[in-house]
Amino acid sequence: MRGARKTALVTIIFVSLGGVLFAYGQGPKQVAGADTSLAKEERERLLAIGKKLFVERCAKCHDERGDKPLGSGPPLSERKLSDGEIARSVSGRFKDAPDEQKRAVALYVRSFMKGK
Ligand code: HEC
Repeated sequence: MRGARKTALVTIIFVSLGGVLFAYGQGPKQVAGADTSLAKEERERLLAIGKKLFVERCAKCHDERGDKPLGSGPPLSERKLSDGEIARSVSGRFKDAPDEQKRAVALYVRSFMKGK
């Protein structure tokens, strides 16, 4: 009898673990799909441009995904900024850049903003 109970327990553990891993695998895709109005390829193209610019010009202080703690408060990725706030502060920092670059960086910043 003990053997059977052990097998049942092991089965339960594996099934639960599978569920957790499955849920985890689904998660990031849903977060990344925040802007459904953009076609997937267009979004990926802009994100790649935005990431490159952010790494070049912003990651020194914010790290690649905005996780670096800031002296004046939480890291960028935890500031729960709205789309409008992101767009405004990115435009301010990229004043002379073409609109496409502003959009690209704003989209990238939004992609790592947590809790949105
Ligand atoms: C020299 C360091 C430095 C660089 C480079 C830098 N930042 Fe920041 N950034 C900061 C600090 C420090 C804060 C926090 C300021 C505050 O709390 O008001 C901040 C805040 C922000 C915020 C949040 C503003 C808010 O309202 O909370 C955004 C968005 C942001 N930065 C975007 C960028 C972008 C985009 C770039 C690249 C163009 C960039 N930053 C480059 C240091 C930097």
